Amino acid sequence: MLKRLTNLSLKMFTVLFPSEKPLLFTGANSTIQLASLAQASGSKRPLLVTEKFLLQLGLLDEVLEYFKNEGCEVTIFDGIIPNPTYEVIEEGIRACQKNDCDSVFAVGGGSTIDAAKVIAACYSNEVGVEQVVGLLKVKKPTLPFYTVPTTSGTGSEVTNSAVISETTTHQKKFVVDPKLIPSAAALDANMLKSLPPHITAATGMDALTHAIESYSSVNRFSDAERDAKLAIKLLLEYLPVVYEDENNPEARQLVALASFLAGYSFNKSGLGYVHAISHQISAHYNTPHGLTNAVILPKILRFNKTVCADRFANLERMLSGTSAGSDEQLADRFIARVDALGQQLNIPSGFKELEAKHFDAITSKALLEAKSFYAVPRLMNRAQCKEILASISEGVKAESPITQQLASITI
Ligand SMILES: [Fe+2]
Repeated sequence: MLKRLTNLSLKMFTVLFPSEKPLLFTGANSTIQLASLAQASGSKRPLLVTEKFLLQLGLLDEVLEYFKNEGCEVTIFDGIIPNPTYEVIEEGIRACQKNDCDSVFAVGGGSTIDAAKVIAACYSNEVGVEQVVGLLKVKKPTLPFYTVPTTSGTGSEVTNSAVISETTTHQKKFVVDPKLIPSAAALDANMLKSLPPHITAATGMDALTHAIESYSSVNRFSDAERDAKLAIKLLLEYLPVVYEDENNPEARQLVALASFLAGYSFNKSGLGYVHAISHQISAHYNTPHGLTNAVILPKILRFNKTVCADRFANLERMLSGTSAGSDEQLADRFIARVDALGQQLNIPSGFKELEAKHFDAITSKALLEAKSFYAVPRLMNRAQCKEILASISEGVKAESPITQQLASITI
């Protein structure tokens, strides 16, 4: 009964505070189209929020040249770090104030886009970071906000939220408000080519998890469901292509589109136990978000199958184009596809860092997160959660190369 009330209030929130999709440009060089829109909409002094290495790679040369030729005065803020802290964001706000910026143009991964959202919100509202932390705390519209993601996974270019870290405790804080959704975004294959295969794999599996968890949610919306299905189809087909051939611009473009669609879908329908458990494991052991999701996803698919066999069977029908077999059989085939994708991408079977002494704490926080924020199709109890954690820690036979490559990276 209580869970039904929570699900209803989650649905009410989405209906009362609708999240629109940003205007979207796609294709090679769509970054310039986005810059052109910003300029035509009145941006004369944009704050370019980005990461140092993107500037060093020369990926921003063209857009900087474009703004210069149009007579715009660009302020560059390249101080973004993974898991940006209050301090980093405050530095960005000061850069914005110093040059009286009139828009924010963010080029980077999920951390950059999240930080830029909060900078744009704090500057226009004339408040500090702490005052926008929480639900619906952004009173006035943000500065006009444009974004170009350079990774495909977080969906930050379409979502209404940003994650930031407290400077001293590094505790994660959420800013959630439909005003954070960018005005427009560009999915530009040229800006995505700096991604090495192991990051493509981890971030792509994050996008797949967004799509599957939102599709499995009982908080359903027809447009979110449509986008989730398309994202699942695109990711299962093109993620292995990009993993094998990072220079395939068509496949990279489609993976970026899938990430965008998955982001829109979970922004409306929410997530589930993969994210609820993954967030706690990452907090304890600093495992990368996408990779942690990828390890947990098959286990939650099997957990949910008892109530979602018809949903998973629908996905399998879409993917295979055939309806031969029972829902149960088709659902198994869908889960086998996800298993096969994980193997293709060298996703490990577990994390050897997991220690049984942390299972109680991880379980409590994961179940609370799911109960508070997600309209999950099947409720999990403590024993079931601990069983999943045990299977993750016991499942490791040998350390996968991707675990080593991602060991020090937080995505
Ligand atoms: Fe995620």
